[in-house]
Amino acid sequence: MQYLFEILRRESAGASGYVQEIPYETADEDATCASALTQINAVLETPVRWECSCLQKKCGACAMVINGKPMLACDAKLGAVQKKGRIRLEPLRKFPVIADLIVDRSILFENLRTLSVWLETDAAAEGKKAELAYEASRCLQCGCCLEICPNFSPGDTFFGMASFVPAARLIAELPLEDQQALRRDYRTHIYEGCGKSLACRDVCPADIPLDRLLLHTNAASVWKRR
Ligand code: SF4
Ligand code: SF4
Ligand code: FES
Repeated sequence: MQYLFEILRRESAGASGYVQEIPYETADEDATCASALTQINAVLETPVRWECSCLQKKCGACAMVINGKPMLACDAKLGAVQKKGRIRLEPLRKFPVIADLIVDRSILFENLRTLSVWLETDAAAEGKKAELAYEASRCLQCGCCLEICPNFSPGDTFFGMASFVPAARLIAELPLEDQQALRRDYRTHIYEGCGKSLACRDVCPADIPLDRLLLHTNAASVWKRR
C-alpha cells in the first residue's frame, strides 16, 4: 500500500513551520505511524524528531495529531487513519513545540504539582472505589484530552482531564478527612471549568471511563454524596 505522509516540521522552538511530503510504501497491514516514522527516518537526511518509548500504548510519549485527531503514533494503524492515502502528522497544538513533532508538556506536570497529587498518608479503596481508582491509574499523561478540550489553555485556571484523572484517583482512595485541600482545588481547577461535553473521553487512548470518574468525583467533591 502506498501512502503520502505530510509532516509539519520545525527546526526548533520559534522557527517557522513547513510541511514535508514523504511517500511511504508498505505491505504490512498492521503498520503504524510509529513504525512508518522509524523507517522513514532511516533514509531521511534530516530525520523527523518525535518522541517514543514503549511502542505499546503504555507511556503516552508518542502523542501527536494524526489527520486532525490527537492519537498515539504507536496505536495509529496506517490503513485506519489514512484519508485518500494521505496521513498528516502535526505536533500537539496546546503545547510549545520543541522541534518537529516534539512538544514541551511540562505544564501538565506543573498542574499536577499545584494539585499536590501524591500520597502523604496510607490510601486504600474497596469495591466500586477501588475499581475507579484502578481505571484512573491507567492515565498515560499523554495530553490527547487537552488537545481536544475547548476549555483548556496552558496556564489557565482550568487544568483539564489530564489533571482530573490523577485527582479523581486520590479522591476515590483517600480517607475523607485527608481530602479537604484536594477537593477544594478540584472544584477550582477542574469542576468549574469543565463543560462536561466529554469530547475528551472519545479521544482518550487508554479508554478511561472519564464519564463515570466525573460522576463519582463530582458527587464526592461538589455535591457531597459519597
Ligand atoms: S485522560 Fe486519557 S487522554 Fe488524557 S492524559 Fe490520561 S490517558 Fe491521555
Ligand atoms: S468534558 Fe469537555 S470541557 Fe471537560 S475536560 Fe472534557 S473536553 Fe474539556
Ligand atoms: S511510544 Fe509509548 S505510547 Fe506510543
